[in-house]
Amino acid sequence: MIDLSTNYLGLKLKNPVVVSASPLTEKLENFARLEEAGASAIVMYSLMEEQIEAESENIDNALESGANSYAESTSYFPDLQKYHVGPDRYLELLHKGKNSVGIPVMGSLNGRSPGGWVRYAELMEQAGADALELNIFDIPTDTSLTSEDLETRYCNLVRAVRKSIRIPIAVKLGPYFTSCANFARRLSEAGADGVVIFNRFYQPDFDLEELEVTPNLILSSPHELRLRLHWAAILYHQVETYIAITGGVHDSSDVLKCMMAGAHVAMMTSALLKYGIEHIGVVLAGMETWMNEHEYISIRQMRGSMSLVNIENPAAFLRGNYLKMLGSYAWREPGTALRSF
Ligand SMILES: Cc1cc2nc3c(=O)[nH]c(=O)nc-3n(C[C@H](O)[C@H](O)[C@H](O)COP(=O)(O)O)c2cc1C
Repeated sequence: MIDLSTNYLGLKLKNPVVVSASPLTEKLENFARLEEAGASAIVMYSLMEEQIEAESENIDNALESGANSYAESTSYFPDLQKYHVGPDRYLELLHKGKNSVGIPVMGSLNGRSPGGWVRYAELMEQAGADALELNIFDIPTDTSLTSEDLETRYCNLVRAVRKSIRIPIAVKLGPYFTSCANFARRLSEAGADGVVIFNRFYQPDFDLEELEVTPNLILSSPHELRLRLHWAAILYHQVETYIAITGGVHDSSDVLKCMMAGAHVAMMTSALLKYGIEHIGVVLAGMETWMNEHEYISIRQMRGSMSLVNIENPAAFLRGNYLKMLGSYAWREPGTALRSF
């Protein structure tokens, strides 16, 4: 009997396949479907800082106007109710979703600046979230902002959330930090129990005819997993933190690679949007088959086996790999013989 169980953020999970934040959790019925398909935990789609701030601004405006005229204030009430729909509906769905399944459900709070929106961490805990994923997504365009300032801002945000809740916190972040390993350690010291690596950087496209910048979400490709494997393998055992990989996990071999790199869980969205929720079952079956064939009896046995601290040739993750990679490329000019560099 193969033991696929793992531990993530102190939560005991039956396997390492977790559903990452996505529109799949916008429908209550999908929570049970994801559990049935075999998911070991679910991260809800994100509640955005902008949504929360917009709501409180609308409430403030409504209350201010209401103070000026009673007749007007009564007519504001329907609108006030409507403005509640965003964050309130989120918390309601989180509560109902959590109650509809037996696996852990995590809330996701998404923002970048210090502010009142952070109180929603507490509301998510009260709604029943087993953990919180804090997605800090910032695009620092201010040329006077240093990387130190930015990292400190992230850590302060984590500290503020840590103070307000008792459930575990995972921080989902992008890969573009000058010193990723050090930053992961700082996040851990600030109170994060885990890191979710990495946010995809959704670059907009240019429409040459309309001369507009257009949003254009493309689902991930398995190729994107390599960046995540690389950093999980570096963080493993070097930083005291739980590690989740998100980005490019499409099949059973991807999940196995994540485990060997040192991740505690592998998260999936694109593959589920592409192949359907039942794809989770295919992934789990594929993992068991591979583990049987290669005589692994548990995930614990393989975790971190290909990490920087465990691999025979650590240079594979360092500059040596860079040189080797470049040197290994064999180029053939179209129509000519193979040339190697
Ligand atoms: C349509 C769509 C919506 C998403 N919504 C969220 C979200 O609300 N919050 C979040 O943190 N990530 C969100 N993500 C990112 C995913 O959680 C995941 O990190 C990313 O897609 C990479 O994983 P994948 O390769 O398995 O797709 C979304 C992704 C997609 C494709």
